[in-house]
Amino acid sequence: MNPHTTNISNVLVIGSGGSGLRAAIEAKKAGVEVTVIGKRQKEDVHTVLAAGGINAALGNVDEQDSWQQHYADTMIEGYGLSEPRMVELMARESPELVKEIDEWGANFAKLKNGKLDQRFFGAHTYRRTCYSGDYTGRSILFALIKKAESLQIPIHDSQYVTELLVHEDICFGAMTFNIKNGERTVFLADSVILCAGGHTRIWRKSSSRRNENTGDGYYLGLKAGCTLTDMELVQFHPTGMVIPEEMAGALVTEAVRGEGGYLINGSGERFMNKYDPDRMELSTRDRVAMANYTEIMEGRSTKNGGVYLDISHKSKDLIIKKLPRMYRQFLDVLMIDISKEPMEVAPTAHYSMGGIMVHPDDHFTGIEGLYAAGEVTGGLHGANRLGGNSLAEILIFGKRAGSAAAERSMNMDVSYRSRKAIQNAHDKIDSFLKVGEEVARPLQRELRNIMWNNCGVVRDEEKLVNGLSKINDLEMAAKNLDVRPDSEGFEDLMLAFDLDGSLLSARATILGAIERKESRGSHQRTDFPELDDKFKVNFISKLNTSNQLEIFKKELEPISPELRDIIETTDNIKDFKGKLLE
Ligand code: FUM
Repeated sequence: MNPHTTNISNVLVIGSGGSGLRAAIEAKKAGVEVTVIGKRQKEDVHTVLAAGGINAALGNVDEQDSWQQHYADTMIEGYGLSEPRMVELMARESPELVKEIDEWGANFAKLKNGKLDQRFFGAHTYRRTCYSGDYTGRSILFALIKKAESLQIPIHDSQYVTELLVHEDICFGAMTFNIKNGERTVFLADSVILCAGGHTRIWRKSSSRRNENTGDGYYLGLKAGCTLTDMELVQFHPTGMVIPEEMAGALVTEAVRGEGGYLINGSGERFMNKYDPDRMELSTRDRVAMANYTEIMEGRSTKNGGVYLDISHKSKDLIIKKLPRMYRQFLDVLMIDISKEPMEVAPTAHYSMGGIMVHPDDHFTGIEGLYAAGEVTGGLHGANRLGGNSLAEILIFGKRAGSAAAERSMNMDVSYRSRKAIQNAHDKIDSFLKVGEEVARPLQRELRNIMWNNCGVVRDEEKLVNGLSKINDLEMAAKNLDVRPDSEGFEDLMLAFDLDGSLLSARATILGAIERKESRGSHQRTDFPELDDKFKVNFISKLNTSNQLEIFKKELEPISPELRDIIETTDNIKDFKGKLLE
């Protein structure tokens, strides 16, 4: 067998972002040994980019708010595809976990009475988004790191997971190599929790940075036997930066609109009254993204091809206090003072709403010993995520997955291992180390262009089919990669694995987008512009025994009478409510 180090714990957490750390903390508190591994430095994982806030129906500002209202808002705006029990758990449990993370050091903004302040976010009936300026993800992450360190949970950075170790449908660990020096480690565990993020970096304009959200989590899940749901449902955030080119797509937080920002087109019109006159800039993300897209495509864009987002009518003090990151970002990068000038923004790929199918309560994947949490999973957000719900998701379902993984470990008499699975994982890495004609980074760039042009904000059959054929070509090219760590270091090996993950995730996304012949939430098709009840289903993808991705339709789980009643009796005024209950 190839040389490797072995690391043994009861629970292995893959991913050191918010869901991973919250899972690890819960497992450790339950009394088992936990190891966390991540590919980035722990202080710089994707969670640091989450900006505007985290939702909890605390009723601190609008006292009429309730978990039932949060439930109804989320279900209605998910266009009928949100998993009802997951939404219930999120809405019920976020108040407690938001207060807990604040006590752990997240340091959220407070009202004069000491309670957590809450701001508006799009399509929430009440102000329920707690925040820490526009650094909310970073505040949460740093509080989680502090808590994990106080519990002496080891967090290993620079670990790239190439494969989940599975034997007879039981997951018993993961194979990694160290991105800095190539050293391989076999991490053995009774339970594994996959918290490896989504795949929105595979679009040309993306709010994710290089080497994050590349679809590697879906790849690991699929190869281990998991099922993906609704991969075509990808959220385009309405406001990403437009210039400079190297920052195109970087997030401009919804909190700008939450604090009163206006969207204005290149002709100087505040245009949201054409698209959602009641909610204007605080409409749902899918509607605001489509509005921005339409203004741009119909020729009413700014000179750099976006629309304006203007907060300059608010005081500089408010902007610096509530939007400090945006203030700095535009000054540092563009020398624009947003208290004086508008920002230019356009839609950007932001969040994967589909993902690995999990059981709502414990986030079990269906593969013995394997759990998943956070963006890598699907189901909670349906066809349109409400801003602020993903930070709630990582705490609630991280905690639940951590607890279930620990419980499984504590109930186990025998630990499962397989030398053959470990050797296969070595062989797989070895198969990537070779001289070839192609380099991963340009192929990844090509894929991002394909996804943006062929499976972007607006889709149609012709573009999708064409995109699939281009992906076939890229897959062929990717077989011929040049990966020579001796001369280039191990980043190329990471990029080679990432490319495989990105291609597989792209295929699942396009296949789903072809099958979903309707427009629903974030999935907009010009050839099928209406919502169609025939497609109020999930599209499921899975690798078959020949390692080919297959896609099929799955009927939704019925909604319980109690939960249905909540939707019927709350005040959300949305036109979709009727459709949801049909
Ligand atoms: O715009 C934002 O601050 C993003 C929040 C979210 O995606 O939940």
